[in-house]
Amino acid sequence: MGRVLLTHALPEGALDSILEAGHEVILASPSGVDLLSMAPDADAIVCLLTDRVDADVLRAGAAGRLRVVSVAAVGYDNVDVDSARSLGITVCHTPGVLDESTADLAFLLILAASRLSSSAEDDLRSGRWGGWGITDHLGRDVHRATLGLVGYGRIAQAVARRAAGFSMEVIHHSRRDTKSPGYVADLADLLARSDVVSLHVPLTPQTHHLIGASELARMKPTAVLVNTARGDVVDEVALAAALRDGTIFAAGLDVYSHEPDIDPVLLQAPRTVLLPHIGSATTSTRTAMAQMASQAVCDVLGGRNPAHRVP
Ligand code: GLV
Repeated sequence: MGRVLLTHALPEGALDSILEAGHEVILASPSGVDLLSMAPDADAIVCLLTDRVDADVLRAGAAGRLRVVSVAAVGYDNVDVDSARSLGITVCHTPGVLDESTADLAFLLILAASRLSSSAEDDLRSGRWGGWGITDHLGRDVHRATLGLVGYGRIAQAVARRAAGFSMEVIHHSRRDTKSPGYVADLADLLARSDVVSLHVPLTPQTHHLIGASELARMKPTAVLVNTARGDVVDEVALAAALRDGTIFAAGLDVYSHEPDIDPVLLQAPRTVLLPHIGSATTSTRTAMAQMASQAVCDVLGGRNPAHRVP
C-alpha cells in the first residue's frame, strides 16, 4: 500500500477511495507544507492550485518514492509538468466536474460588472445612497449584448449556454479553428466586436498577459472584461489603467497574478467587481474535485490508467 501526502484537508468524504484501498494518509500541518522535504517519503501527493510543485520538489520526490501528483483543480500551471514527465511522475487534474459552477460564477461577474453592483452596494452600505436617481448607477445591458469568449473549452461553452438565455450573440476565439458557429480567427477582431469579453484559457507561456494594453485598447469603451481563468492571463497594471482612463467600462475578476495579494492598483480601479477565486466554490463541486483527485491517486498506485492524466 502507498503513502499519500495531502497538502490540505479535503472536503468530507473525499478520501474514501484512498482509505478503502488501504493507503496511508499523511496530512500536512495547517501552518504549511514543506513539499521539498516531504515529497521523497510519499508515493502520491494530493495538492491544490496554491501549492507550487516545482522541479526541485519533483526531483526530490523522484529520488524517493513519488509516483503521482494529483491536483484538485482543472488548471495545473502550479506544477512543473515538463519536469514531472521527464522524471516519470504522473500528473493528474480534475476537468469536467467544475465546469457548470465556474460558468455560473463567470456569469455572475458578467452581470455584476455590467450593472456595477459592487459600487452600487458600496454606496448603499456606506450611507452615500441618496435615493433613486434617474442618472445614478447606470450600467450596461447584458441582454442582447455580444459576448466574446476567449478560449472555447468546456467552461466557455457552459458560459455560452447561459448567454443564450439572455439573448446574447456569442462569438469565440481560440488558437485552433473550432469549426463551430461564432468562431473568430483573430483575437483583435473578437475584442473589437464584443460588449463583454470573458476569458477561458489555461495559463501557459503563450497566454501569459494575453490581454495587455494593446488588447484592451482594441475593446469598446463600453465593454466589460471578465476573468475566471488565471490572473496572469491579464496584465493587471494595464487593466487598472484602462479602467481608470475609460478605455473599457468595467471588469469582473475572480483570479489574480499574486494570490492572495491583490495589486493595489486593482483595488483602487473604478467599476471593478473583485472576488477571491471562488469559481468552483460550491460544496458539491469542491467535493467532486477532491474525490476525483483521490481516485486518480488510487488508480495510479493500483496500476490503472487515471481518467485525467496531464499529457
Ligand atoms: C480553479 O481555478 C481550477 O483550476 O480548478
